[in-house]
Amino acid sequence: MKALVLAGGKGTRLRPLTHTAAKQLVPVANRPILFYVLDNLAKAGITEVGIIIAPETQRAIREAVGDGSRWGFRLTEYIFQEEPLGLAHAVKVARPFLKDSPFVMYLGDNLIGGDIKNFREDFGNAGSDALILLKQVEDPSSFGVVEIDGTGRVLKLVEKPKEPKSDLALIGIYFFSPRVHRAIDEIRPSWRGELEITDAIQRLLDTGGRVSSVVLKNWWIDTGKKDDLLAANTVVLDEWISREISGSADKASQVIGRVALGKDSKIVGSTVRGPAVIGENVLVKDSFIGPFTSIGNGSQIVHSVIEHSVILEGVSIENVDRMEDSLVGNGAKIFKDRAARQGYRLLVGDDSVVEL
Ligand code: TTP
Repeated sequence: MKALVLAGGKGTRLRPLTHTAAKQLVPVANRPILFYVLDNLAKAGITEVGIIIAPETQRAIREAVGDGSRWGFRLTEYIFQEEPLGLAHAVKVARPFLKDSPFVMYLGDNLIGGDIKNFREDFGNAGSDALILLKQVEDPSSFGVVEIDGTGRVLKLVEKPKEPKSDLALIGIYFFSPRVHRAIDEIRPSWRGELEITDAIQRLLDTGGRVSSVVLKNWWIDTGKKDDLLAANTVVLDEWISREISGSADKASQVIGRVALGKDSKIVGSTVRGPAVIGENVLVKDSFIGPFTSIGNGSQIVHSVIEHSVILEGVSIENVDRMEDSLVGNGAKIFKDRAARQGYRLLVGDDSVVEL
């Protein structure tokens, strides 16, 4: 079985971070989201991986993943998609790589708890044309919604229905037999101009194909927006971080609980309460770093309180009384001039959100 990882697209919902970086490379617990996807493929024993890339972000993705040998992949092929014309379009572009092999398509910005090994086996055993992964959601009308019978067999798919007939949403992991290519050839772009994978799966059904499903019991997070990303950071820190101290803390500091502290990082006169991850070469001075916070390499936090936030690399934060539920991009500087009595002085990039 091959894998097709989708790491193209525009990432408009995570702007401004994604003006300069691929959304699949935005870190969760200081590791790019895409790396968790590749971990999962490796755990499922898949060694031939095609990665869809877009013009704007292809270089960064190639640099981060390289030849995939870190995951033990035998073949890592980059597949160029000039425009994000839909998930089914990505499959079309990848056809020379996929050939007639069954494959798993995995969206590069989706994170799930647990692995996909069992689903790969279920797909093999079911002998169906597609196996789709579903998750019960509270607000089905903003997802692709699926109606199934008592055995998990898929009856119908509807994209973002106004009156959903089920609460089962499609998550970004799909197993396909090569029969999906014919279905994709037979569909037309939707109202938003994209070749939709839901239309392709519906076409499979309409032409007598068998589509099975499994409902994911573990968590699933689509990291498209800020709050989703913070939620992903919280669950990953909660479930996967263990105490691992490479950097140093002075006598006046306390490092409590599950904290990963990278090498050459210094904690001075501060408290760090896990679960939290602090990268390499970070300075935390006279500060409190609260639970569920990730701080990227080379950042400096001085005389500040930060909780439940994702701070990327090379960030400088000084004299900030309390920062929470925040996402701070690479190289940003946030500081309070203690002498200044009134008025904020800001230099804010395109599409930034500042909640004061
Ligand atoms: P989406 O979240 O549907 O699209 P997007 O990346 O354009 O995001 P936004 O809504 O924030 O603008 O895409 C899901 C994943 O699939 C994501 O990792 C990007 C990728 N993708 C492609 O590789 N090619 C495509 O044509 C599309 C639509 C998405």
